[in-house]
Amino acid sequence: MRILIVNGPNLNMLGIREPDVYGKQSYRDLKNEIRRHAKAIGVAVAFFQSNHEGALIDCIQRRYRRIDGIVINPGALTHYSYALRDCIKAVGLPTVEVHLSDIGAREPFRKQSVTADVCVKQICGKGFAGYLEAVDELKKGKA
Ligand code: DQA
Repeated sequence: MRILIVNGPNLNMLGIREPDVYGKQSYRDLKNEIRRHAKAIGVAVAFFQSNHEGALIDCIQRRYRRIDGIVINPGALTHYSYALRDCIKAVGLPTVEVHLSDIGAREPFRKQSVTADVCVKQICGKGFAGYLEAVDELKKGKA
């Protein structure tokens, strides 16, 4: 099984940006943790991060035929990107939306996700562990 892990705007700034909200570990640490977990359960993972909406969409459109599922943290695009939502729906792959923080317990504009209902599941507020759970979820669905 092959899973694409997609991270949107500012997730490359993990460890630097608002460590009280997003933790002190870096994007590289996140990738290493996911890689370790995926290897342990026999799943192949590939990563993509961009600060640009169109680049995220291009990546998903380019790779969807060769993967079995997507884990996505769209960052702030979660709250307003109908284009990313349409892309997730268009490719028709099981997709799990992840947020490091609990978006329901923060500013009002973060409560709405325009992407969640085209995903099989949304996981919030569990930090890096949320990504590992998302990988498990996709593997479970496949088994
Ligand atoms: C986030 C939550 C979003 O509201 C925010 O814009 C992010 C990160 C999270 O992982 O908690 O960039 O998706």
